[in-house]
Amino acid sequence: MSSPAITKTKIKVCSVSDIPIGEGREVTLDGKRIALFRSRNGSIYATQAACPHRQGPLADGIMSDTKITCPMHELLFDLVSGEALDGLCDGLKTYKVDVDSAEAIWLSIAD
Ligand code: FES
Repeated sequence: MSSPAITKTKIKVCSVSDIPIGEGREVTLDGKRIALFRSRNGSIYATQAACPHRQGPLADGIMSDTKITCPMHELLFDLVSGEALDGLCDGLKTYKVDVDSAEAIWLSIAD
């Protein structure tokens, strides 16, 4: 992916078409590893990239409409709330996603 364009509060990350439907992609923005997911329901979600259990690569996980299963030990997380649905570790940090009329994905990554 090309270098992100940075504005005051949001970062333009990539286009929706850069993420295959039903898959995730990892990006690094402002030193933060973030996983982007394109759901089959048309929504884009963004979370921390490393699983809170043992740092598994969430972007490589198995995605359902609004959930991601970590590829390392198969713990399940809600992509909307970040909740750890198995209750065995902390939840995920989530990021606000906006998609503009040109299908560009923008993230708000301020803490
Ligand atoms: S590292 Fe993700 S479930 Fe263990």
